[in-house]
Amino acid sequence: MIQFTVNGIKKQFSGDPEKTLLEYLRNDLKITSAKDGCSGQGVCGSCTVEVNGKAKMSCTLKMKKLDNAEILTMEGFPEYIKDTIAKAFVNKGAVQCGFCTPGLISRTKVLLQKKPDPTIGEIQKAIKPHLCRCTGYKKIEDAIVYAADALRENKKLEITKTSGKIGVPHPKYQAYQTAIGKRDFVEDIRLEGMLYAALKFSDHPKAKVLSINTEDAEKLPGVHRVFTAKDIPGEKKVGLILQDWSVMIGEGETTHYIGDVIAGVVAETEKIAREAIELINVQYEVLKPVTDVFEAIDGERVHPERPNNFNTTKFTRGDIEEAFAKAKYISKGRYETQRIEHGFLEKEAAIARPDGKGGLELFSQSQGVYEDRRQVAMILELPEEKVRVTLVPNGGGFGGKEDLSIQGHTSLFAYLLDKPVKLALTRSESIRLHPKRHPVFMDMEVGADENGKLIALRLRAVGDTGAYASVGDKVLERVAGHAAGGYFIPNIDIEAKTV
Ligand code: FES
Ligand code: FES
Repeated sequence: MIQFTVNGIKKQFSGDPEKTLLEYLRNDLKITSAKDGCSGQGVCGSCTVEVNGKAKMSCTLKMKKLDNAEILTMEGFPEYIKDTIAKAFVNKGAVQCGFCTPGLISRTKVLLQKKPDPTIGEIQKAIKPHLCRCTGYKKIEDAIVYAADALRENKKLEITKTSGKIGVPHPKYQAYQTAIGKRDFVEDIRLEGMLYAALKFSDHPKAKVLSINTEDAEKLPGVHRVFTAKDIPGEKKVGLILQDWSVMIGEGETTHYIGDVIAGVVAETEKIAREAIELINVQYEVLKPVTDVFEAIDGERVHPERPNNFNTTKFTRGDIEEAFAKAKYISKGRYETQRIEHGFLEKEAAIARPDGKGGLELFSQSQGVYEDRRQVAMILELPEEKVRVTLVPNGGGFGGKEDLSIQGHTSLFAYLLDKPVKLALTRSESIRLHPKRHPVFMDMEVGADENGKLIALRLRAVGDTGAYASVGDKVLERVAGHAAGGYFIPNIDIEAKTV
């Protein structure tokens, strides 16, 4: 039996000694100010709480290490200290999506206990274990200095009141509630009778699925149901622009990347759902994936229904040949942007529940709830009015939450089971599933006259949109449209291919 206190209240724990403190806080005590940003990797700081006067990442701390520990989460901080630090963060613009903020506030409290007047160097060292994708850290440093000054002077901070006019900085909507961990993200929401889902991903980037055996998974105690593509009542493919992305890859079909979903399990707990996933047996015929965008341009079709280069944006103006012939100076070269993971701190999570009237309610953290509604309705073969999507402000998206990701699966499971279902990805699943920012290869040639004035621009760009169309053609339209930057160039010849 392990004994300790949480926010001053005595607790005893006799469960799995390997369980992490974060799991215990979030799942057993329903304390959700501590967030899960990296699934136990100890690299983001979102789960930071105070343990025996030190800032600790609760996702790496096992319950067996906590005998006689004093644990404090934001909920147990002295009100004045919590309020002052949180308001300092709000007033300095250090709360954007706010997913990282409770962890940073916990860190700040511990720092200021030891060093009431820290230098910028000490602040930077203290917050090093924390990742914030939104603020750029400068605002966080400013907020900590501001909080330290206020605490030393015993000042009561108020959220800055503004005129509400354009040109004046305003505190972000619900920033204070978010900062103190009282504004739920999707993963923080709990519904009565909710079940938990997990997904079985493809084991190969490209493979024909020969068979999917779910028998053992179905037999695992606590499993409610295992779903595959044949359970989808409506459209089996979705997509923001082209409808080419399979919700699940069924028997006889081919996977296109390791983020493709083969099956889903819904169970009493997330742990059981994940155990059941391991019991699903998939037989594949492994194929060679296409990984080079230049090979793909005129290569064998990845999606039989469309060419790999499915969109090209072109425009010309003036006389490009004449302009280059006249140019005194010409510069050319190949420029590339790399594939970029968006790195939002909040991983994908969705909750769906039947509305009792033949429809469904979905809690989504996406960047386009009307698109979610359209695509979920297609999957379920329901009129759009039967699907209600509630936008839960997310912990960052940066373009990586535009596509429908797990909202479709969650809705399908909840609808067919007639029960509320939550599905939350781990960090590695998140990186595996969502599309990345497009690598673009740009051959660019620019000509200038004798005064250095730009007179000609030629661009040949190829953008890699990955396994599915996603928003690739819109991105390449922007590559083309922004090629001249802020300059007026009278003669241009631009072509941008989406592959
Ligand atoms: S460091 Fe604990 S969730 Fe990221
Ligand atoms: S405000 Fe820090 S991750 Fe968004």
